[in-house]
Amino acid sequence: MRKKIIAGNWKMNNSNSETNKLLRELKKNKFSDNKRVIVCPSFTQLSIAIEKLKNTEITVASQNIHFASHGPYTGEVSAAMIKNLGVFMTILGHSERRTFFYETDEILKNKVNTALKEEIEIIFCVGENLSDRKSKNHFKFVQSQLENSIFHLPGKSLQQIIIAYEPIWAIGTGETASPHQAQEMHSFIRNLIYKKYNQSISDSISIIYGGSVNPKNAADIFSKTDVDGGLVGGASLNPDDFAEIVRSI
Ligand code: PGA
Repeated sequence: MRKKIIAGNWKMNNSNSETNKLLRELKKNKFSDNKRVIVCPSFTQLSIAIEKLKNTEITVASQNIHFASHGPYTGEVSAAMIKNLGVFMTILGHSERRTFFYETDEILKNKVNTALKEEIEIIFCVGENLSDRKSKNHFKFVQSQLENSIFHLPGKSLQQIIIAYEPIWAIGTGETASPHQAQEMHSFIRNLIYKKYNQSISDSISIIYGGSVNPKNAADIFSKTDVDGGLVGGASLNPDDFAEIVRSI
């Protein structure tokens, strides 16, 4: 059985004191054991989150890592550095990184390889923009993102990856994919994994949905067979909303 997963992507938000407050509130909730709850603060808040969440079941993940292990990459943070803090998971391939920081499929493939070499779990994001959706190219587009960045991996490594389907047109816009649209893409992705790998691997990979998930729409989206949870941006900044989303899964 795949565990249900809710990850909060804080993006470039939260000061030290806001982080402390948010986590203090979040810790008041008792989430059931069959759910995996993850928070993804910015690099500068990772140590606070690790400290505050020790002895809890909540996992701390970073929002990015660099593909190199060290070296002349001013302003970047390596996998080994986050591991030093006690962080063993990262988001990779978020559309904001692809768009604003020009992260290509090839760069992301290198990042994926580095993370896995360092034994860091990955939330790997894919998703089409509005014009691809409108021209009905969305399945092809997502397929090529997966083929170019993660389908070179052996099955065992692929199982260290949570796939997040995040249609770009739904991120931060208030517009969500309908439960049907989410299910359709998730089952498409699972079928690709089945064809490329096998049934047991495709059954074991978690595929979560992201894009304007909130306490009102979460339950409907999560009710779909191939939707194993959510990657939540805006609503993860409010501890009550985030906790409600976790409960609705
Ligand atoms: P959103 O962001 O929930 O604010 O749309 C989701 C994401 O970008 O991961």
